[in-house]
Order: sequence, then structure tokens, then C-alpha cells
Amino acid sequence: MNAGRGESPIAAGGPARHVPVLLAETVDALAPRAGGVYVDGTFGAGGYSRALLARGAQVVAIDRDPAAIAGGAPLAAEFSGRLTLVEGRFAALDAIARAAGFVAVDGVALDVGVSSMQLDVAERGFSLRRDAPLDMRMEAKGRSAADILRDDDEATIADILYVFGEERAARRIARAIVADRKTAPYVSTLQLAAMIARVAPARPGEAIHPATRSFQALRIAVNDELGQLLGGLEAAERILAPGGRLAVVTFHSLEDRIVKFFFARRASRGRAASRLLPGEPAQPASTFRLAGGQPIRPGEAELSANPRARSAKLRFAERTQAPPQARDIELVALTAPPARPGRG
Ligand SMILES: C[S@@+](CC[C@H](N)C(=O)[O-])C[C@H]1O[C@@H](n2cnc3c(N)ncnc32)[C@H](O)[C@@H]1O
Repeated sequence: MNAGRGESPIAAGGPARHVPVLLAETVDALAPRAGGVYVDGTFGAGGYSRALLARGAQVVAIDRDPAAIAGGAPLAAEFSGRLTLVEGRFAALDAIARAAGFVAVDGVALDVGVSSMQLDVAERGFSLRRDAPLDMRMEAKGRSAADILRDDDEATIADILYVFGEERAARRIARAIVADRKTAPYVSTLQLAAMIARVAPARPGEAIHPATRSFQALRIAVNDELGQLLGGLEAAERILAPGGRLAVVTFHSLEDRIVKFFFARRASRGRAASRLLPGEPAQPASTFRLAGGQPIRPGEAELSANPRARSAKLRFAERTQAPPQARDIELVALTAPPARPGRG
């Protein structure tokens, strides 16, 4: 797995503003029209929303981070009446769009993961290079990474590191966390990073810090990032008008697998009723039409200007007329570590 966006030095005067990734490609994928309604499920620094507004669109922009929503006030003022900013989670984007007065929308964009601002503000605890409380919450509520490492059992912690970080030393690291916390729980980023570097040092030729995978895993667990992603895709399916587009930018293989599988399942037509065996239930009609099989990647120019774009992938598809489908258990299984027998 690629560990996603890297870290950049902090510019004087505060964190660097987030540079939108695959911006032109995502906006093209949505094919926005003046007067159309679009949901930007991951407002961040507003790069996608600004581009949609500049094309004359009406935008409902969502972010779970109160700092991102507060930072959007100047953009809302600039495009008065056309930008609705909502603090919330994109898994509820259909309910949020309805509450904003839209029963259906023409496009949904999701640019998942963390923003540069979140990564670069040390106190938020996402970075393993600057000392800070082990927080990692994108929003100001819920359990922090320190809470998980203090309260969860060893097997749960190992599963988080293994499944969400693809960390081969997951058991060794989890054992050390649970042994050490009897005297000193893990509460700071550098404390955790130093322990991981000690018990599971970098493999020969490995360029990333040995704690990178564990930090990514904890971030995904703290924010239920994969559950949110699947929820966001399903919510888009419920609110998109026929012909509306869904465009999703992901940053690592766990995310991309969910988007790829979701689109593949929703776009597969199923067998014609005449070919079903007697008693075999009819498969639901496709809710999306795929736009090409291969994801769109950043070009050389974007990669040299913005190294954080290096693992980005864009996939998009167009909504059909068919009614939304039910939850897909196989997709849900991609969003969480498998439950072990006997574990609550
Ligand atoms: C990669 S940034 C988006 C950057 C944005 N496209 C731009 O051009 O500035 C991701 C943003 O999505 C937000 N986010 C992540 N998961 C979310 C969720 N489940 N619901 C709402 N916002 C979320 C994060 O707080 C962050 O601000």
C-alpha cells in the first residue's frame, strides 16, 4: 500500500493551504453546468467547490472538520447565495443536500483523506515527525488515537494495524503497546513513533519511517474512514439524479479497492430474467454506468508541482434511472477488520 500524502515542511506563518489534487480532471468528470447542483463532500480548502462555483454551479459543501467550514466563509461571501457550507459527514450527504433544499443533485465529488492543513498542524496529531497529543480526529468529537491505544484489547489493536496499515509487525507492536500502557499509556506522537522504530525497525531499502503504516491505520480507525467512504458512495447513489456524475479521488489501495468494487457491482447488469434459474432472485438493475475501466492518475506536471498527489486516483461514473440498491455485505467487509469469534 502506498502510505498516501506525504508531509511537507510548514511554511512560515502557518500550515500551507491545501493544493487541490486532480482538480481539472475531477471537474471535467462532473461536467458541471451553470445552475446545476453539486455536492462537494470534502470541502477542505475549497479548491473543488471554487472551480464548480466558477462554472456557475450551485454547491453544497460538506466537511467534518469545523476549521475547514470556518475557513470557507470568504468563498461563501464571494459567491453569495450559491455556496451552502455544512459541517457534517459525507456518509449523510443525501440528508444534508435534502436539508439544504435539494431533492436530487447533478454531481457529487469526494476527495477523501486528510488535507494539508490537517497534516501540517502538529497539535492535531496526524504527523509522526512533530510531537503532539495522539489525537488524529478530523472533527472535535469521538475517540482519539490515544483512547484506542489506552482502552482497546491487544487483538483489536493488532487488527487495526494489520488491516488498515498492512503492517506486518502488527502483533509485535500491539503487544508492546499493551505491555507498556500498564505503566505509561501512549499519549504522544513521538512516543509512539519511537517505540515502533525500536520494536519494528525499517526494513532494508525502506524509504518511509517505520511508524508510517501504523499512523495511517490509527487515522483510518479513529475517523472510520472506510466506513464513511462506503456510506458516501451509497448516499450519492440515493441523491444523484439520472445522468448525474459521481467522482471520487482516493489516496491508497484500501480506499481505491472500495470505490472500484462499488462501481463494478453497481454497474454490472446482472443476468437477464430469461436466463435465471427457476427460483433464482432477479439481480437489481445497474445504478451506475462506468466511465472507462482505468482510474485517472495525476500527470507529470502535477506530480512535480505537488508531490502529495503521487498516489491519487480518480474514478467516476454516471447515475442511471434504476432505484438505489441495498447494502452489499461484501463491500461492508472491506471497511472493517473481520470480527473474531468470541470477541464483543
Ligand atoms: C483531501 S481534503 C479535500 C481537499 C479539497 N478537495 C480541496 O480542494 O481543498 C479532505 C477533506 O475532507 C474532509 N473529510 C474527510 N472525511 C470526511 C467525511 N467522512 N465527511 C466529511 N468530510 C470529510 C477532511 O476533513 C478534509 O478537510
